[in-house]
Amino acid sequence: MEQQKRYGHFDDQHREYVITDPQTPWPWINYLGNEDFFSLISNTAGGYSFYKDAKFRRITRYRYNNVPMDNGGRYFYIKDGDTVWNPGWKPCKTPLDFYECRHGMSYTRITGKKNGVEASVLFFVPLKKWAEVQKLTLKNESNEVKNLKLFSFEEWCLWNAATDMENFQRNFSTGEVEIEGSTIYHKTEYRERRNHYAFYHVNAPIQGFDTDRETFVGLYNEFADPQAVMEGKPRNSHAHGWSPIASHYIEVTLQPGESKDFVFLLGYIENEQDEKFEAPQVINKDKAHALIAELDTTEKVDKAFAELCEYWDALLNIYKVRTGNDKLDRMVNIWNQYQCMVTFNFSRSASFFESGVGRGMGFRDSNQDLVGFVHQIPPRARQRIIDIASTQFPDGGCYHQYQPLTKRGNNDIGGGFNDDPCWLIFGTVAYIKETGDFSILDEMVPFDNQPGSEVTLFEHLKISMDHVIKNLGPHMLPLIGRADWNDCLNLNCFSWDPNESFQTTENVSEGTKAESLMIAGLFVVTGKDYVALCKKLANGQWSMVNGQCDFSAEAERMQAAVDAMIDAVKKHGWDGEWYLRAYDFYGRKIGSNECEEGKIFIESQGWCTMAEIGAEDGMVAKSLDSCKKYLECEHGMVLNNPAFTKYIYEYGEISSYPEGYKENAGIFCHNNPWVIIGECLAGRGNDAWSHYAKILPSYVEEKYQTLHKVEPYVNCQMVAGKDAFKPGEGKNSWLTGTAAWMWYTVSEFILGIKPDYDGIRIDPCLPETATDYTVQRKFREADYEITIHPNGQQKGVKTITLDGQPISGTVIPYSPGKHTVEVTM
Ligand code: GLC
Ligand code: GLC
Repeated sequence: MEQQKRYGHFDDQHREYVITDPQTPWPWINYLGNEDFFSLISNTAGGYSFYKDAKFRRITRYRYNNVPMDNGGRYFYIKDGDTVWNPGWKPCKTPLDFYECRHGMSYTRITGKKNGVEASVLFFVPLKKWAEVQKLTLKNESNEVKNLKLFSFEEWCLWNAATDMENFQRNFSTGEVEIEGSTIYHKTEYRERRNHYAFYHVNAPIQGFDTDRETFVGLYNEFADPQAVMEGKPRNSHAHGWSPIASHYIEVTLQPGESKDFVFLLGYIENEQDEKFEAPQVINKDKAHALIAELDTTEKVDKAFAELCEYWDALLNIYKVRTGNDKLDRMVNIWNQYQCMVTFNFSRSASFFESGVGRGMGFRDSNQDLVGFVHQIPPRARQRIIDIASTQFPDGGCYHQYQPLTKRGNNDIGGGFNDDPCWLIFGTVAYIKETGDFSILDEMVPFDNQPGSEVTLFEHLKISMDHVIKNLGPHMLPLIGRADWNDCLNLNCFSWDPNESFQTTENVSEGTKAESLMIAGLFVVTGKDYVALCKKLANGQWSMVNGQCDFSAEAERMQAAVDAMIDAVKKHGWDGEWYLRAYDFYGRKIGSNECEEGKIFIESQGWCTMAEIGAEDGMVAKSLDSCKKYLECEHGMVLNNPAFTKYIYEYGEISSYPEGYKENAGIFCHNNPWVIIGECLAGRGNDAWSHYAKILPSYVEEKYQTLHKVEPYVNCQMVAGKDAFKPGEGKNSWLTGTAAWMWYTVSEFILGIKPDYDGIRIDPCLPETATDYTVQRKFREADYEITIHPNGQQKGVKTITLDGQPISGTVIPYSPGKHTVEVTM
């Protein structure tokens, strides 16, 4: 392997990734905002902002997949004599004397230097505020007086990011702005049904402005050479239709050594219907004034920034490990948890690979994301569970996605993904184990958001299990529906029409025999959880106010269903060396040695080994060995092997991808942890670790920055597999279930700290080389310091002492307060 160029490095002390070359192999981005107002920002300040919903409430415009790449963002142009440059290098691309981008926890700081001037911009969204702060510090490091001309730039999106890109016959006539002092207001469509506007403000007097894009840029110019900037002359333009923008013009004089701060604020405001206007056609700016007043000085902004940092300190203090292995510690303590927050917030909606208009919150995705996040802010996880369950149908099926703004199921995609219901159990159980809050089961939750249809959340869990049981195929295995976890294994689709979507076309399902071993394994895993929950409830852990249930009988009923499923898998789901993947429409095997291609698939190996089906007969060990033999490669485990080399009408989208990409034998990182957990349950710590390290960003960062292309501090959804043109190339960074699964795997199964109903279960599974480590874990009202002495063992806890006293079993019983735990293996 040739030595790869490096573009940056970790700074663990500041919890930052430091990018030192702006020309990264792909834009390396960060996310700002934690609750309502969000921004995406690249290492050259590209990206955009939105309020809650990247499709319906887009604040600034962005052009995906454009030339040049990463086109549009919040740009500061500095004109110093004849030189025009930007602190983040783009869009002018004037060579800088120094460049650095520091992506931190919900903030980004970009610094550039040119000809003795330093410009440093701190970008963040203050907690609970609907605004992005851009604090620009200009410093004269030269010996002469500097007279600079500063232009800011933002381009407004006309709110609906989808129609913004297509409905130009209307769009070019609707744009409206207002200008007041140093604030530019964007009020397109406010005159009619919208109750919201945006503004761009700076806390200094301005000497000019522009709000009309063509006037500012020039029709035949580009972001790289806007006419107004190149000439050093703002036009003071008022946008009427066309494309409204916001640009401030400020003349700045700096003495040698002098520095000045400017606080720019991109804000979003909603007004009540009867308070929309202060005069005919004039928007009511009271709330904007108030928001500006909260953030109009360096001191106020610094304080807001300190609060944001404290917020992250607290979040990252909940689970902390010291292993002495920096690469592991930084992922566990910083980046993996950070990515989990981002996936929890965005599901699969807005990244540099997800345009924010295509997808809402996934039902299965969100339940999984939750598991990476529930220890940090349990009340938000609780709300999410209720929101998700509210999109379920009375028969237990559910909408595959919902829109975050309305929280309603998305009709464009509908339902019929038969794994979806099980994930609700997965998410809910994780929530209760973390919090001990059984009362969530008593919440009254509607179906399809219909008022009056409410039943308890527990009832939702029950019908979720029943949905699987009521949809079994000829081998008594779960019918797959449109697809299971693998959205691309479309066994009832049968499409020859390229204009049909694989996701939503279900041409034939009447009489289908298509069954899924992945759902079978998932059902056994979540079914065991459900049974354990029912038993807890039968023991009087919690008594229902809103509903009644004989929990013992329910536990028995479901145990029988789980046992039947295990039998069915053993009988009809085993191929000799591994678990089958599915049966197709006609009842033919998929993922079998008998098949020409796609002989083995990862999903069923992951779920059936997690379910430990047939462990006693050696099935689990064989399956895990087969993963190593047939799926593993240098960069991780591929999804299936051999890759499909042609389109198979009966299989759908999976075979539409060229070999080695995405669901056709790509390394779909999301499912690697399933096998790793299987390895952990089987006690094979060396294998678990070697699989884990292969897709651990910090290890990849060290070796493959150029090849991997995407951000080295987070996982991506897919890395090109061994059959691809360029194995090891990453795509679809950030928004992937991989984040939550990596977290779940390392925190609970490798390091072995597992929240349980009555306490914390300690059950690590480690490589033989592991040395002593300590986990600090806040859990409900308790604070545990847990030191593990592996003694060269991969698995098996020998003794545990709690505050110096030996305890029996592996669960540290929960009690509030500070505790010290010593574990020997
Ligand atoms: C994407 C989807 C996820 C699906 C996976 C495999 O990551 O978000 O729901 O399970 O692809 O197809
Ligand atoms: C495509 C992708 C898959 C994703 C799905 C979401 O099928 O290949 O990964 O889950 O779209 O709709």
